[in-house]
Amino acid sequence: MARDEESLGSLKKKLAELFEVSLRVTFPTETDVEPLVAVCTGNFGDYQCNNAMSLWPRIKGKGTAFRGPPAVGQALMKNIPPSEMIESCSVAGPGFVNVKLSKSWVAKNIQKMLTRGIGEWAPKLRIKRAVVDFSSPNIAKEMHVGNLRSTIIGDTLARMLEFSNVQVLRRNHVGDWGTQFGMLIEFLFEKFPDWEDASETPIGDLQAFYKESKQRFDNDHDFLERARKAVVKLQGGEPKYRKAWAQICDISRKEFDKVYKCLGVTLEEKGESFYNPFIPGVLEKLSNLGLMEENQGARVIFIEGISIPLIVVKSDGGYNYASTDLTALWYRLNEEKAEWIIYLTDVGQSQHFEMVFKAAKRAGWLPPENNSYPRVNHVGFGLVLGEDGKRFRTRNTEVVRLVDLLDEAKRRSKDALIERGKDKEWTEEELEETAKAIGYGAVKYADLKNNRLTNYTFNFDQMLNDKGNTAVYLLYAHARICSIIRKSGKEIEELKKTAVISLDHPDERALGLHLLQFAESVEEACTNLLPNVLCEYLYNLSENFTKFYSNCQVIGKPEEASRLLLCEATAVVMRQCFHLLGIEPVYKI
Ligand code: ARG
Repeated sequence: MARDEESLGSLKKKLAELFEVSLRVTFPTETDVEPLVAVCTGNFGDYQCNNAMSLWPRIKGKGTAFRGPPAVGQALMKNIPPSEMIESCSVAGPGFVNVKLSKSWVAKNIQKMLTRGIGEWAPKLRIKRAVVDFSSPNIAKEMHVGNLRSTIIGDTLARMLEFSNVQVLRRNHVGDWGTQFGMLIEFLFEKFPDWEDASETPIGDLQAFYKESKQRFDNDHDFLERARKAVVKLQGGEPKYRKAWAQICDISRKEFDKVYKCLGVTLEEKGESFYNPFIPGVLEKLSNLGLMEENQGARVIFIEGISIPLIVVKSDGGYNYASTDLTALWYRLNEEKAEWIIYLTDVGQSQHFEMVFKAAKRAGWLPPENNSYPRVNHVGFGLVLGEDGKRFRTRNTEVVRLVDLLDEAKRRSKDALIERGKDKEWTEEELEETAKAIGYGAVKYADLKNNRLTNYTFNFDQMLNDKGNTAVYLLYAHARICSIIRKSGKEIEELKKTAVISLDHPDERALGLHLLQFAESVEEACTNLLPNVLCEYLYNLSENFTKFYSNCQVIGKPEEASRLLLCEATAVVMRQCFHLLGIEPVYKI
């Protein structure tokens, strides 16, 4: 469709296409040279092409007429096909070709986005369907801060893919099939003999129940034996055991759902148990391929470069985490036809995934290169630390309950709003909704803005600060833009039709260009699986806006209409960033 061709996409890529043409024309024999385009580091332009320097040594020996890299740069510049996106070019230093984009072209694209919607600036990906395997807590255990990171980062990646028109299967791979169920089921039978008749489950607090049964398991040999047998019966599908299991899973599910509801995250549960019936068939396929070997009574797959093998059938004949993950991978590729499968867990599980992926490559399920499709990625992340630099815990050294954490963030932001007198200006509902948006948004943003591989320190004061790179600052910045527009008394929808954006002031131009760069920032964040790239973009956008607003008066100037449209475009892009980061925008402060 023509419209698709016209949509913006990454500026870097658009320029790379132009330089590709120039490279082919200038050096027809050097067919394998890829255009190298980057954002300009100096003040000579907006983007630069860096090919001249690396091309030079290649052509030097081949009797070329060029006299050095700067001459190569000149030729590359001359052969760029005419394009309305470029205003001017120059060659600098050792041969960089600098490109200055046309401000009227930039303005035109902003205007187009305003009328057609932000979807115009969505990344273009080659795939149609992806699985994002995230959150994935273990049943009967409390969701902890590590699950929070997986939930927050995973949701953002899913949102970015969805924005790129990829169908995302948001998978909650809950741990609902471990040996702990034998113990829990047996304890349920023992403690509540008429558990089946009760209208509501008698278990109550599953955490406490888990602890009690664990104690029983550790101290009573008969109980331990019964628990072991219970696992076998459960796995064999005995109805009474399945029913008890389902009851236990349901309690956890309700707890998890509270957290998902707060966070506004949707997930579809396909837990470990789901894949259980498929395991024997998948292992047989691997066995037929000659991949399975016997090792100390277990059945294993050896992986090149790793000294320990991947155990897929334990010596007692049972399946484990790896058998389930291999089967889930097979299922996702073959039954769900996913082209990209993304797993979120802490970096501690890197080796597990490396082994599963390599086994799948050996089986020929995945191509040998990492970047071709179908593709798999383990997206690891670091720990959440407390103020003391150790793993985040509450005072009584228990794991931190997630709902409590989110509640506290909301409570603190509500207090801050009350301190600013908002309880007198707003309805209780407005106060509550804003406190939620700010509190939950702050927790998410504090996590997402860091490179995910680093550990990060959980600190309410820092994340709820209204200055610096925080969600609070950004949400306020957005609300301020909305209030500028409101105060003007102008109808934005009307302006979109009648007014024309112009970018004559340098700060208008800088803001306009940054707006257009949204497309490549999302694309980079999405394809490299790095939400912090989008956070950085958003923060810089806000800084660019501040600069524009302090140097370019909006209301009452001849440029008012154009500048209001620029305000609106900034607000639209900010809201899209918030949306991708799973943060609710606020419109007034
Ligand atoms: N339940 C696991 C845990 O809490 C995470 C599961 C991740 N997904 C997977 N397919 N292994 O550590």
